[in-house]
Amino acid sequence: MRILFVGDVVGSPGRAMVDEYLPRLKQKYKPTLTIINGENAASGKGITEKIYKGFLDAGAQAITLGNHSFDKKEIFDFIDDAKNLVRPANYPPGVPGKGYTFVKINQIEVAVINLMGRTFLPPIDCPFRKADQILAEVKKRTPYIFVDFHAEATSEKQAMGWYLDGKVTAVVGTHTHVQTADERILPEGTAYITDVGMTGPYDGILGVEKDVIIQRFLTSLPARFEVTHGREQLNGVVIDVDPKTGLAKSIQRILINEDQPFFSI
Ligand SMILES: [Fe+2]
Ligand SMILES: [Fe+2]
Repeated sequence: MRILFVGDVVGSPGRAMVDEYLPRLKQKYKPTLTIINGENAASGKGITEKIYKGFLDAGAQAITLGNHSFDKKEIFDFIDDAKNLVRPANYPPGVPGKGYTFVKINQIEVAVINLMGRTFLPPIDCPFRKADQILAEVKKRTPYIFVDFHAEATSEKQAMGWYLDGKVTAVVGTHTHVQTADERILPEGTAYITDVGMTGPYDGILGVEKDVIIQRFLTSLPARFEVTHGREQLNGVVIDVDPKTGLAKSIQRILINEDQPFFSI
């Protein structure tokens, strides 16, 4: 049992990397389940139905989101019908969409949960207590539980990793777009990484045109963020799962860019 996760796909450069490398990654790692974070997939902000379906066609079985979930207005038209699309579960009650889903592959059911942090992000319900609530339900059905924790603060992400250690298969961090080198199996068997990193432009600032961001730091004036183009990268992780316990056996980082090409991983 193996899970492949691809970090925040940013705009058309990110989608191009998914199209180019997801088939090759699937061939190399043969994952049982492939999950993509798509919160930035539509021009850096949000996701459209066409892109969501494109990810499924490309070989993903579940798509997670984050603080940009609702940036594209058309999401309100399709999120309730998108079975394999999850947005942060700790949005307040009444918000469209769902915070977790079950993906069934060869008789195995995997729960895919999306949660969002509250530090340096807009106010939202407690992700820790929401995790408890969801696990009480989910554990009745499956021991295979994948959590994408979309958060800014490293401390909050580590806290979630430790809080859920031994209770879920994996807690992987997203949102900060830079891959961290702290992947590990926590003592009770949960795979953890603070941030998987992003998939998209390699030479921007978190995927955005770098000159715009530099000017913003120099002047403090508001600026329109555009996804930059040029060289590209893909960041992800592969997690091996013990089929008897649902806990993780290993976690490996994937980083593909011009300095670290696919054939070297
Ligand atoms: Fe993101
Ligand atoms: Fe984000």
